[in-house]
Amino acid sequence: MSDYTNRAIVLNQRPQGEIQDGDLKLVEKPVRDLKEGEVLARTLWLSLDPYMRPRMNDSKGYMDPIGIGEAIVGEVVARIVESKSDKYNVGDLVTCYAGWQEYSVFPDTADMVYKIQEKAGVPLQAYLGVAGMPGRTGYCGLMYVGEPKAGETVVVSAASGPVGTVVGQTAKKEGCRAVGVAGGPDKCRYVVEELGFDACVDYKAGNLEEDLKAACPDGIDIYFENVGGAVTRAVAPLLNEGARVPICGYVSAYNAEDPTKVETPFHVLKALNPVPEHRFFLVTEWQDRHQEITGILADRVASGEIKYRETVAEGLDNAVEAFKGMLKGKNFGKQLVHIAD
Ligand SMILES: NC(=O)c1ccc[n+]([C@@H]2O[C@H](COP(=O)([O-])OP(=O)(O)OC[C@H]3O[C@@H](n4cnc5c(N)ncnc54)[C@H](OP(=O)(O)O)[C@@H]3O)[C@@H](O)[C@H]2O)c1
Repeated sequence: MSDYTNRAIVLNQRPQGEIQDGDLKLVEKPVRDLKEGEVLARTLWLSLDPYMRPRMNDSKGYMDPIGIGEAIVGEVVARIVESKSDKYNVGDLVTCYAGWQEYSVFPDTADMVYKIQEKAGVPLQAYLGVAGMPGRTGYCGLMYVGEPKAGETVVVSAASGPVGTVVGQTAKKEGCRAVGVAGGPDKCRYVVEELGFDACVDYKAGNLEEDLKAACPDGIDIYFENVGGAVTRAVAPLLNEGARVPICGYVSAYNAEDPTKVETPFHVLKALNPVPEHRFFLVTEWQDRHQEITGILADRVASGEIKYRETVAEGLDNAVEAFKGMLKGKNFGKQLVHIAD
């Protein structure tokens, strides 16, 4: 055994609705010795993302469920601390899907491991946020599914989060009117004043339909769907002829006790006449362009063109509460867990 002890948060039992005490648990075990071709990575930052909640259910979505006893899935920024590989040196910084744990061992042939090309003005953890998977999701979903044209109105929900942040700021760069939807006056003010959206509607203020209509006087050409539920229902009557709806996720349903009974954006959109162009997409559709798109986003972060915010929980012990809070909008910007320097 190596000198290292790993701490991991594993799935103890499948949550029914919101995560309860006992659903996830912290376990400790020694890190095993490396075999030829393997590396040991020390997690520095852990990304908390909404998709992790559906993966705790016993239903096959676009990815397999997490097994009982397995570490919760997740992408991290990590430093290679031991290497028996020619491909990775001790000290290399990578993003990889190590899961909710402090150390991970993987072969140098593992997929979805990328060396970070450090850039001045781009903090490491940004490679988990606006310059990482969520940023690429916002960028690719808007540019390649939404296909914005100058002058169009783009609405995005969960606007202050990392996906929404990139969608709105990219829409502005493309010459569109960017309208956010977010929970509460502070987030809405930030989205307009800091991120530069043209308007942001507080869906918790009790006047969603009217406020959205007022923010979109020319209707909606692209609705970038992140949340589902009441927001989708309010957007639907405002969609213009020729509107496109990239369906990225619907976080309002992720804690549902019975996901099969949820009204999804597909139900709402298919009931319209005409049915707007809409499809679910996955960021991995553009996996072969990972480095190129990460580079575009990192450059925009470095130049200050992409602004963003983050909420940081300290240590693995605080990851579960931070994750539960994120699904209810307690995060302001990208939710991260800082593990080590
Ligand atoms: N398809 C893909 O490949 C892909 C990849 C990455 C992410 N995604 C999806 O992108 C979406 C945004 O991800 P993110 O990482 O940027 O998350 P995020 O915005 O940081 O966090 C989720 C946000 O959802 C909002 N929310 C929660 N419950 C809601 C409700 N009932 N109604 C309206 N809003 C609600 C909250 O913001 P408020 O306080 O503003 O309500 C919360 O902060 C998620 O649906 C995620 O699953 C998809």
